[in-house]
Amino acid sequence: MTLQAIKYQEGVLAIIDQLQLPYVEQYIQINTSEQAWHAIKAMQVRGAPAIAIVAALALASEIHALISNQSLSPDADEVRAFIVEKLHYLVSSRPTAVNLGDAARKLEVVVARSASQPGATGHEVAIAFIKASEAMLVKDVEDNKQIGENGAKWILSNALAGGKSKATVLTHCNTGSLATSGYGTALGVIRSLASMNCLRHAYCTETRPYNQGSRLTAFELVHDNLPSTLITDSMSAALLASPQAGVDAIIVGADRVAANGDTANKIGTYGLAVLAKHHGVKFLVAAPLTTIDLSTKSGSDIVIEERPAVEVTKIKGPCEGHVYTGGEFETVRIAAEGINVWNPAFDITPATLIDGIITEKGVVEKTPEGHFDLVELFEG
Ligand code: MRU
Repeated sequence: MTLQAIKYQEGVLAIIDQLQLPYVEQYIQINTSEQAWHAIKAMQVRGAPAIAIVAALALASEIHALISNQSLSPDADEVRAFIVEKLHYLVSSRPTAVNLGDAARKLEVVVARSASQPGATGHEVAIAFIKASEAMLVKDVEDNKQIGENGAKWILSNALAGGKSKATVLTHCNTGSLATSGYGTALGVIRSLASMNCLRHAYCTETRPYNQGSRLTAFELVHDNLPSTLITDSMSAALLASPQAGVDAIIVGADRVAANGDTANKIGTYGLAVLAKHHGVKFLVAAPLTTIDLSTKSGSDIVIEERPAVEVTKIKGPCEGHVYTGGEFETVRIAAEGINVWNPAFDITPATLIDGIITEKGVVEKTPEGHFDLVELFEG
């Protein structure tokens, strides 16, 4: 059965609470943009494409309710302004992933266009917004499947040495069904390799400090019954040096790809790219066009979110041996009290360390001059 992290039907949105994973699969209903903002901030939903889709659908659900209660303004411009204000608020939830800002910008254009039609009503603007939000959910899954296929084919043609027919890959953080509308980006490539019977083994990192790898990616790999092994982040170098492991490629997702190819992704990605270069292993970023931000020139222009110190100094989870059905976790301190903490959620991998950017439109490699030309992806 496919893992469905976002359930949406006609104004009713429910998300799997990722803070409860992998212990229990518990869905929470999101009815308003305020609830979505808090769910995104608290990382009950996370992953660049997923937070954009949940934000859009939460506002769609809120507007659905206003229509049902007959409390939506009849005035087209009032509804447009209401939607724009809510979108700006939602974008303030997390700064690094561009997908949320990108979705908000596109939806602003949709409602502005609808409101500018002669004789437009508030209801028409609201429906235009709801339809565009729902279309984003469908398109993201389609794009991910295409990314999966493009990435798998590229790896089989470019990353396997010595006549191998199956790939061994390492991935970081969670980029699967839980991080997107479904299927996933980097994890989508792993799923596609498996569906072609070309996945020898997938390694996933624990992804400290928030453990998206051990809690979420490991959960998805086990759920799909894929041949896989969990390592801690500090084991990556030893893994790449191991001929038995035989890693052919590292595939990661992205929160924002700048115009020059510099990529913001989960903290630890940069270190993996340095290791890949040292070991001659291909390093690939898998991301939909919604993650590519041509208005950001390079990685130094990307704002990196810093998260609370407690994510580093404490761990949370249900007590081993107790039957856990949801609710409060036990908290365990794992650092000396009083120590200073630096907790950036993301880092920047320079384009020089990236071999290819896998998108739904194909895999972009560097030009002979050594640059990524990402503009061409948006042409035609
Ligand atoms: O802090 P998170 O869990 O939202 O970070 C997620 C990542 O870094 C993912 O790799 C990225 O969003 C791509 S998800 C397809």
